[in-house]
Amino acid sequence: MADRVVLAYSGGLDTSVGIGWLKDATGKDVVALAVDVGQGGEDMDDIRQRALDCGAVESIVVDAKDEFAANFLMPALKANAMYQKTYPLVSALSRPLIARHLARVAKELGADSVAHGCTGKGNDQVRFEAAVAALAPDLKSIAPVRDLALTRDKAIIYAEERGLPIRQSAKSPYSIDKNVWGRAVETGFLEDPWNAPIEDLYEYTQDPSVLQDADEVVITFSQGIPTAIDGAAVTPLQAVEQLNLLAGKHGVGRIDVVEDRLVGIKSREVYEAPGAIALIAAHEALESLTLERDLGRYKRGVEADWANLVYDGLWFSGLKRSLDVFIDDTQKYVSGEIRLKLQGGRAVVTGQKSEQSLYDFSLATYDTGDTFDQSLSKGFIEIWSLPSKISAKRDLRQQ
Ligand code: ARG
Repeated sequence: MADRVVLAYSGGLDTSVGIGWLKDATGKDVVALAVDVGQGGEDMDDIRQRALDCGAVESIVVDAKDEFAANFLMPALKANAMYQKTYPLVSALSRPLIARHLARVAKELGADSVAHGCTGKGNDQVRFEAAVAALAPDLKSIAPVRDLALTRDKAIIYAEERGLPIRQSAKSPYSIDKNVWGRAVETGFLEDPWNAPIEDLYEYTQDPSVLQDADEVVITFSQGIPTAIDGAAVTPLQAVEQLNLLAGKHGVGRIDVVEDRLVGIKSREVYEAPGAIALIAAHEALESLTLERDLGRYKRGVEADWANLVYDGLWFSGLKRSLDVFIDDTQKYVSGEIRLKLQGGRAVVTGQKSEQSLYDFSLATYDTGDTFDQSLSKGFIEIWSLPSKISAKRDLRQQ
């Protein structure tokens, strides 16, 4: 039996041609693996069949939507994860999950390699291969587009010559990656950062400048995880899906950023992530209510580290594992309800409550019922400013 390679298959031109291209170049039989992370669009069965029609010896589809939401999106939500404070890691979160399925299938079928359709210029190649290396150090990673010189023009000629059943859909000028956490759009006219995005780019969000009647939604969290929307119980996947629709309708979560890729290139990226942005806004508010000051402050640094690690393809790493333990521990009291108002591209927190709240009305109020002894502040400030006072006196002596 020939050696086998398991290819992360999307159903698109590059990975469809990649099947034959890989076989020709390496002599390995190609197993196609399509992972459903909520990208929507084509029927997964059609994708499965196309891989066979393009020459795969086996074609596997995995519905990983719930796994993705529970094990990848919820940790990202607990970490309020935003790369460069703006990008909720849409693609960065799906790669380690896909890589884990690649490694699992490779092991089950006795394959010695895995393959993906990434170019040599982006982050996704790093994420796939770093994840595979961490999970199955003996597997080899092959990237036909990068390592076997499969260009788009060659792919089209190859597909035509072999009569491959490629849907030559109206060729999009953009490179798009999407899943239930959001959608990433790059290339085409966006490569000039001076060019404003156009309405055509968006799929998950409606134009926020077309004002709709505001919607209010109440999200219930239990230990950092959304468990109900407007009182109706939801799974993590349902929470994200429902908020994509609700917040998407108001154009929440459109992002336009020049981003620092791991490979050193700056690239212009447009994202839309309505559910993610609404959930993170709500979750952050609930943390403000329930985390003590030092813990919240320290966690914000950990969040940035977590986002950098995940962006950089180190999902399966010792540091990421340890940060997850810390973050999980912080979520013990992050339970309660947040009310969001959705309108005009914004998800605004308009109400917050929690059984575990640290907000104490009798301490905070300026009205009667105040239990805070203001006379204590005088001495506190004396001692608090003592180091400043002493060093300021020295500064004056030096002049
Ligand atoms: N720049 C983003 C990231 O690195 C999005 C990548 C999207 N991938 C794609 N093939 N269009 O996470």
